[in-house]
Amino acid sequence: MHPLTRRNFLKMSASSAAAGAAARFTLLEPAAMWGQVGAVAPSDRIRFASIGTGVRGCQLLEASLLVPGVECVAVCDLYDSRHEAAQEAVQKPVPATRNYHEILDRKDVDAVLVAVADHQHRRIVVDACAAGKDVYCEKPMSHTLEDGFAMVEAVRKGNRILQVGSQRVSSIVYEKAREIYASGALGDVFFIEGSSDRNTPSGAWVYPIPPDASEQTIDWNGFLEGAPKRPFDVVRFFRWRCYADYGEGLAGDLFVHLLSGIHFISGTNEAPKRAQSSGGLFRWKDGRDFPDLIETLYDYPKFRVALRCNLNNAGGEPIRFHGTKGTVEIIGQTLTFTPQDVSPKPEIYSTIGWPARLRKEYLAQWKLDHPEPDPLDRQPVESMIFAAPEGYSDVAAHEANFFNAVRTRKPTVENEEFGNHAAIGCHLANHAYFKNKISIWDENAKTIR
Ligand SMILES: NC(=O)c1ccc[n+]([C@@H]2O[C@H](COP(=O)([O-])OP(=O)(O)OC[C@H]3O[C@@H](n4cnc5c(N)ncnc54)[C@H](O)[C@@H]3O)[C@@H](O)[C@H]2O)c1
Repeated sequence: MHPLTRRNFLKMSASSAAAGAAARFTLLEPAAMWGQVGAVAPSDRIRFASIGTGVRGCQLLEASLLVPGVECVAVCDLYDSRHEAAQEAVQKPVPATRNYHEILDRKDVDAVLVAVADHQHRRIVVDACAAGKDVYCEKPMSHTLEDGFAMVEAVRKGNRILQVGSQRVSSIVYEKAREIYASGALGDVFFIEGSSDRNTPSGAWVYPIPPDASEQTIDWNGFLEGAPKRPFDVVRFFRWRCYADYGEGLAGDLFVHLLSGIHFISGTNEAPKRAQSSGGLFRWKDGRDFPDLIETLYDYPKFRVALRCNLNNAGGEPIRFHGTKGTVEIIGQTLTFTPQDVSPKPEIYSTIGWPARLRKEYLAQWKLDHPEPDPLDRQPVESMIFAAPEGYSDVAAHEANFFNAVRTRKPTVENEEFGNHAAIGCHLANHAYFKNKISIWDENAKTIR
């Protein structure tokens, strides 16, 4: 979110110099993440349509303009003004419809971007796979556990490419973190933490209602597909994240990014085993179903993860990997790797209660056991900072990875299995919060106990 500008770079250099810390800066090279370099033959062009052109759908359409060899040929949304917004985003008057089946029926559409409210992901993904379309499905992949497994099944049955839309998985910054993790430079990582904290009405999903929103401009029954019937309600339509009928609260909206990033960096391809949650609804008491603060502790086989989302303080979105030899911290588009000095040192603290003669004896023996390394062999403990260049878009990189997978038929990293595991982590967090219990993922029974 905060690419490295010249000003930020100077600010970072100044602050690390002020702290007396040695730090090396590296500007990451985005080209490596772009699968398709150079001109794309017309026969290789991918024609896609977007289903759901609200906030995210329009962001995806704008980012698609940066991806070579792809072309948006239609858009679909239940709210008419979003057809206009989508055409503006894609900078041409593509056909627009309220009915996504019209898109799936088109033989000239290779792939669809699905950016609808979460409770509609399953229906549209399953139908798209059955219609032979490849799918970029926004995060979180599933609204319920059952939805996730139904989608995995649909992708396999249709032999389709599916990529879930947690764009961090395609970020060059996360790729660098994955490289550092895999190299062993962090030592053993037993603890990972991440948070996503905001302090604005928009951050708490209190989005403004557009002035022309009405039963005439919105297909309300279309929105209610897969959810309980209710009278027309613009608040539910535009602020759907607040309600359990359509969204999964902070876990589905924001934990999913943290979990996807952590899974990608650590090479984890499984759901967490166990979750415990705490939190509460303290401030945004507008009739929503979800807390505005949630903290969840996860157990994975090799490490523990602590996540937090708080809508009552603008704390940003850091992720930290705490290893026995160093720490990686990612904030926005910047990664800091700080090795820890783990060279052998004689113990001082616990010998305080020794008489001087024993301490002297211990130190003499310690020196014999640990000959001084040559000063030239001493490794400086120097932090390394890696950042994406200004203007870098992990969303465009993520879309490029998807479209390349559509071309090559090689599965993407964030495929249906990966997306399902991250979503299960979100469902576990909510289960633990609402049941006020420790929730255990039973992989064989595909259920939460
Ligand atoms: N990857 C990210 O960083 C990111 C960011 C924001 C949102 N998202 C995800 O994108 C999705 C959409 O979120 P948003 O913020 O754009 O919501 P939004 O409310 O702004 O837009 C959703 C749109 O989907 C449309 N829609 C719903 N059901 C439909 C259907 N059956 N057919 C056609 N259109 C339908 C609605 O009319 C609405 O305009 C969600 O899954 C969300 O979690 C991802």
